[in-house]
Amino acid sequence: MIQFSNVSKKYDNGTHALKDINLTIDKGEFVFVVGSSGAGKSTFLKLMMREEVPSSGSIIVEDKDLTKMKKREIPKFRRKLGIVFQDFRLIPNMTVFDNVAFAMRVIGTKEKKIRRRVPYVLSLMGLNEKARNYPQELSGGEQQRVALARALANNAEIIIADEPTGNVDPQMSYEIVDLLMRLNEAGTTVIMVTHEHSLVRCFDKRVIILDKGTVVADGGSLIREAATSHINPISEISNEYVVPPEEDYSAYAAQNAAASQTAENSEPVETSEEFIVPGGED
Ligand SMILES: Nc1ncnc2c1ncn2[C@@H]1O[C@H](COP(=O)(O)OP(=O)(O)OP(=O)(O)O)[C@@H](O)[C@H]1O
Ligand SMILES: [Mg+2]
Repeated sequence: MIQFSNVSKKYDNGTHALKDINLTIDKGEFVFVVGSSGAGKSTFLKLMMREEVPSSGSIIVEDKDLTKMKKREIPKFRRKLGIVFQDFRLIPNMTVFDNVAFAMRVIGTKEKKIRRRVPYVLSLMGLNEKARNYPQELSGGEQQRVALARALANNAEIIIADEPTGNVDPQMSYEIVDLLMRLNEAGTTVIMVTHEHSLVRCFDKRVIILDKGTVVADGGSLIREAATSHINPISEISNEYVVPPEEDYSAYAAQNAAASQTAENSEPVETSEEFIVPGGED
């Protein structure tokens, strides 16, 4: 469980990025976080991963009070998390394989398991052929997918993804969210920032809308309609957020459903089981 109580964040330069945030995200939830640029979305995520600390209020993640957490406790806490940063944060002098493997090595995973798992998560992202390349040799979308593969590597309990689909095409966006949904169905909590309204509309999940540092809406399908409709009152609150046009994801949904049916017949179950094998264990 993730619980924000009266959380505000003022950066050193005086920017009030978040104001009095109160909300709870339950274990196993899937949450979209939306809002215009500068609304505080990344700050919200950085607070829950203990990359930033709040100026006031408390944040509890899995029974841990992050405001009381000591620096030396942070690495252990982060093991629970699979993080996709908005700016990827890939390690430039490591290959794609090693970038993903690194996330597993730091938590002491055996090389044998790494050699099995890394190609698997890279294949989920369609990146097997890039395993030996360096980040700077990849397109923006490919780098983003490496960041996502790295976040999936350890079977984290919570996936925190800051615009994981910001640099990929609509088909790939759909597939990425579909993959996150499947992880979520297997029990992983997923918190994902996105600018893509159609994605939010396509997948029926909780949506938290931030605007100028406050939560202006938080809820299920009704809110989702509000957030994605061009003629709704929400557009008055957050003009910038409601921007047409919409990509129609329903075609991808149909396509994917057909593909997964075929996959069900041909692929060994092993693939999906591997998904829920806890990281670091053998
Ligand atoms: N390290 C920082 N120091 C000072 N101000 C910051 C810092 N990081 C973010 N801000 C400011 O805090 C506010 C919220 O920023 P944040 O990055 O959370 O927005 P965002 O919703 O993620 O935007 P985007 O959609 O553009 O990524 C903005 O006004 C931003 O300029
Ligand atoms: Mg951001």
